[in-house]
Amino acid sequence: MDIKKIREDFPILKREIRGHKLIYFDNAATTQKPLCVINAISEYYKRVNSNVHRGVHFLSDMATDSFEEARKTTKEFINASKAEEIIFVRGTTEGINLVASSFGEKFIKESDEIIISAMEHHSNIVPWQILCERKKAVLKIIPFNDKGEIIFDEFKNLLSGKTKIISLVHVSNSLGTVNPVKKIIDYAHSKNVPVLIDGAQSAQHFKIDVQELDCDFFVFSGHKIYGPTGIGILYGKEKWLEEMPPYQGGGEMIETVTFKKTTYNKLPYKFEAGTPDISGAIGLSEALKYLNRLGLANISEHEKQLLEYGTNKLMSIEGIKIFGTAKEKVSVFSFLLGNYHPYDVGVLLDKLGIALRTGTHCTIPVMDIFKIPGTVRASLCFYNTKEELDYLVENINRVKEILN
Ligand code: ALA
Repeated sequence: MDIKKIREDFPILKREIRGHKLIYFDNAATTQKPLCVINAISEYYKRVNSNVHRGVHFLSDMATDSFEEARKTTKEFINASKAEEIIFVRGTTEGINLVASSFGEKFIKESDEIIISAMEHHSNIVPWQILCERKKAVLKIIPFNDKGEIIFDEFKNLLSGKTKIISLVHVSNSLGTVNPVKKIIDYAHSKNVPVLIDGAQSAQHFKIDVQELDCDFFVFSGHKIYGPTGIGILYGKEKWLEEMPPYQGGGEMIETVTFKKTTYNKLPYKFEAGTPDISGAIGLSEALKYLNRLGLANISEHEKQLLEYGTNKLMSIEGIKIFGTAKEKVSVFSFLLGNYHPYDVGVLLDKLGIALRTGTHCTIPVMDIFKIPGTVRASLCFYNTKEELDYLVENINRVKEILN
């Protein structure tokens, strides 16, 4: 990949921050947007803007076609078998809430069990806790080892006749671990338990094939995959989505409404109450097409090189400790520098033009397990370079001197 050329596609990367060239290392929080995404959204509002599935007029038809095209692009991107299995939601968080609420309403009863892991983002913990409280069900947690790898045997022990669903993060946002989801899904299915995969941190790094994974649900966010904020995807196998009750009521999700009885629309509209984020879906599909043009395999390869290079470089800094050293990892570096508070390190690096995240990264339980207040996290993607990593390492050393 010609990274120099690719960087030209991202106008924001040309910015200077506090007199320094921007080094954007906060891609796990949100990725930057290529010009094709920005233009697609702007063109939509300049030339097409209309509501979907409602009007008889030209623009409404055009908006509907673009919106449904976006669904097809997404279906192909993750290789779902049908476009009807793609539900547009606000993001990963809403996707998980939808499943917890709707699947939970239909299939979870008192003393049933739900399994998640100890490295989940809060968005894959709290919706299940709310459900457990509502239904008096029980949440079980798969532990991970000191490298940040989940312990498969412990998972096997947790799975019982009471388990009704497993909801697991594909890639940990705070540790970078890539979980063995295929192995988990296969084992869960051998016991007839469905599995939801939280793909918020995976779909932007390597190819996802939901049919090959055979997951029952898969969720991801637009803004972490070079698309806009406010849009995301819930993929669900048709057999589950058909059986699940609506999540929200309103326009679009109905077939007929009378005061006596309302009947619901077919998939995917049953789960898309209200006017959807039309420009968001169009922007997301542009982002997915852009990734297809670059090639997910090329992206993975470049990011793997950044991971190797960055790990070696960072490890050379005296007093650094990296959290998340799993064998299978994406290009995320979560670290602490001596006893310095991650916030202090982050603020000083920001002064030098380096954007990264500090804190608990919405995974407080992970920090509690490591008994740390949080980490400094540099999360890289394909437009990042080894030179940027050199600059980071150089400046971590500078920050160390300042704090000393
Ligand atoms: N979940 C996002 C992150 O990890 C916001 O930063």
